[in-house]
Amino acid sequence: MNFPAHKHDQAMRRHFHEAAARRGFSVAPAQEAAVERLARLAGELARPAWTFPKPPRDLYVWGPVGRGKSWLVDTFYEGLPDGRKRRLHFHDFFRRLHGGVSGRPGSRHDSRHDGQSAVDGALDELIGDSRVLVFDEFHAHDAGDAMLIARLFRTLLDRRITLVTTSNYPPAGLMPDPLYHHLFEPTIKLIEERMDVLDVTGPVDFRRLAAPEPAPDPAEGGRRFATGWCLLPDDTAPAELGLTAPAPAEATAVPAHLRELPARAVRGELVWFGFDALCETATAVPDYLVLAERFTTLVLDGVPPLVEASADGRQRFANLVDVACDRDLRLVLMGSDPLADLPADQALTRDLDRTASRLAMLRRPDRTRPAAAGGH
Ligand SMILES: Nc1ncnc2c1ncn2[C@@H]1O[C@H](COP(=O)(O)OP(=O)(O)OP(=O)(O)O)[C@@H](O)[C@H]1O
Ligand SMILES: [Mg+2]
Repeated sequence: MNFPAHKHDQAMRRHFHEAAARRGFSVAPAQEAAVERLARLAGELARPAWTFPKPPRDLYVWGPVGRGKSWLVDTFYEGLPDGRKRRLHFHDFFRRLHGGVSGRPGSRHDSRHDGQSAVDGALDELIGDSRVLVFDEFHAHDAGDAMLIARLFRTLLDRRITLVTTSNYPPAGLMPDPLYHHLFEPTIKLIEERMDVLDVTGPVDFRRLAAPEPAPDPAEGGRRFATGWCLLPDDTAPAELGLTAPAPAEATAVPAHLRELPARAVRGELVWFGFDALCETATAVPDYLVLAERFTTLVLDGVPPLVEASADGRQRFANLVDVACDRDLRLVLMGSDPLADLPADQALTRDLDRTASRLAMLRRPDRTRPAAAGGH
């Protein structure tokens, strides 16, 4: 790079403010420290690696849902020069890691090596020659996550890669399940030592701020997810959707991850499922990722209030909404309000507040705002 580092700082700072202005908002006070820190990191990354005794310090950006964390790190990522950078979403990371581990030398099908070398090999492929890795929505819920994340951290340390993550949890709150928390304590300690922890807890969930109408046009840089709908039984589906109920003859099997799923219809880039077929059978995140790769609209009918779904069904629905939002898939929900009558004080699924925040972006005919978790 020919610029001195402070020029890269300034360019990144400007990039943040311009990106916010393009979306019609300005950087919020709670985001300012993160913008400053990310701009400094852009300057540090612009210097040749050999001029640093150590790689630039890692960053851990955390806060409740809808505080603009993903926007911060995505905008940072977009503003970095091409090459030697990588962005991964948590769900995708684990899918790719598992995909890379199975069947490669060192996996459990190969007795010559231990499983750890398979994990290292898969990590190598995921990380490539990047100098900076942006890892959105970092969380850990079970012993398998704990092992893989510990491995990831060690690899990043060894390879002098700078990590930028977002999370809904402060480091000490990661792996909330008391059964597993102790397994994660060494990694929490490492995060607290190695990473600059930035809290972006502002007063509002930005997703709940503005009325969701009119839907932003994806062709103009708006999010397709926000063009989705939540339709109750007495709603007329907006004409723009052209949603006529599927004829029985339209039923078809749709390839997902290592299986096929029974869709009610496939119409071009639209796929239509019943809630039970997608969320009340043993599907998982890799299946939703495959759907999000092939389709741009997913219609889910027969949606029940989540209090009436099974615990697994609720968790699958929460994961589906997560994937749809991250992959910018238009989601059309038909049936009941999934969030109706949720007891406000009880965590029905681990991350249902995230689901509620994401669903707040969907439009509803003649109703300006969807309900928050806890009911109308
Ligand atoms: N300063 C801001 N003012 C208004 N809207 C903002 C601001 N920053 C980000 N946003 C918008 O708020 C919405 C939510 O932001 P984002 O997805 O980054 O939240 P998040 O903190 O990652 O939430 P989650 O924890 O649920 O992943 C996005 O549409 C984003 O463009
Ligand atoms: Mg996010």
